[in-house]
Amino acid sequence: MPSKVSYLYLLTVVCWASALWYLSVSRSSTAYTSQLSIPIRKLPKPNKNATFSNIRTRCLNPHDFGYLINEAKKCEAEPPFLVILISTTHKEFDARQAIRETWGDESTFQDVRVVTLFLLGRSTDNVLNQMLEQESQIFHDIVVEDFIDSYHNLTLKTLMGMRWVATFCSKAQYVLKTDSDIYVNMENLIFNLLKPTTKPRRRYFTGYVINGGPIRDMRSKWYMPRDLYPESKYPPFCSGTGYVFSADVAELIFNTSLHTRLLHLEDVYMGVCLRKLGIHPFQNSGFNHWKMAYSLCRYRRVVTVHQISPEEMHRIWNDMTSKKHLKC
Ligand SMILES: *[C@@H]1O[C@H](CO)[C@@H](O)[C@H](O)[C@H]1NC(C)=O
Ligand SMILES: *[C@@H]1O[C@H](CO)[C@@H](O)[C@H](O)[C@H]1NC(C)=O
Ligand SMILES: *[C@@H]1O[C@H](CO)[C@@H](O)[C@H](O)[C@H]1NC(C)=O
Repeated sequence: MPSKVSYLYLLTVVCWASALWYLSVSRSSTAYTSQLSIPIRKLPKPNKNATFSNIRTRCLNPHDFGYLINEAKKCEAEPPFLVILISTTHKEFDARQAIRETWGDESTFQDVRVVTLFLLGRSTDNVLNQMLEQESQIFHDIVVEDFIDSYHNLTLKTLMGMRWVATFCSKAQYVLKTDSDIYVNMENLIFNLLKPTTKPRRRYFTGYVINGGPIRDMRSKWYMPRDLYPESKYPPFCSGTGYVFSADVAELIFNTSLHTRLLHLEDVYMGVCLRKLGIHPFQNSGFNHWKMAYSLCRYRRVVTVHQISPEEMHRIWNDMTSKKHLKC
């Protein structure tokens, strides 16, 4: 009997000794690493919600492209009332020039500050990149991020505009995002829709609202694969030909996009982000998704018209500015 008790005693002593030895070793090792100031990687805490929170914080779309051309100081002096972001491609020099000389002219209104910017990615043709660089040095109205400029990357172009407003122009009041073949009736947009003298809106988004669903026909320009977007309906979205929003929405959308799977259809993707944000786009009958034959009185009532060539842009602008006195 006494031998059994002493065995148990011995076992306890051995256990304690090894426990103490283990503790001293592990402590001295942490002290050793911290002396060398090597960051100690902590093991993840067991957390039931670990996978769930990963889904919310993981960056699906980090959008960390560098700027190849930037106009970081455009808004520094005075926050503009309206920032115009025009999605364009390298070869559309005529379209950019027509916009500069017509509705996109920043000096049209004396009391309303407008900033006009053309958005592009990088061309695979270096001659085009160099030409754009020269154009930028003349006009200072071009922003380029380092992603390949292509129709399938149009969403990146819009997100780049959102990021630019959030970073360099967050005190602007409104933003118009449009394309280079759109005629914009600026008087209508600024004085009848946005109204500089009224209280600025927040979480505001308007344009030609489309309630549609994905097109599964692969030949369509708007084809949407089922595995990319399985739902049968899109959330309401504004046609990418022209939409207007309060500048606070730029940062909200950009932040949301970091955790939202990219869709190549830029306007649909904005709708998906807006749904996540709980922002409902307003329908406004002034935004025209389709082409509309020119007539002075008709164009006085619109905000945007689609499919306008550079020549038409000049003709419409000249006609409308020279006939301001005419009544409809
Ligand atoms: C997990 O998340 C839910 C919802 O956010 C929360 O109610 C719950 O307390 C969380 N549980 C743990 C263990 O963190
Ligand atoms: C979009 O841009 C990224 C980044 O430059 C590039 O890797 C990708 O190939 C582009 N996608 C298309 C469809 O051009
Ligand atoms: C967007 O994300 C940035 C960086 O995480 C953060 O500082 C900012 O507060 C966010 N803005 C909004 C409106 O959520």
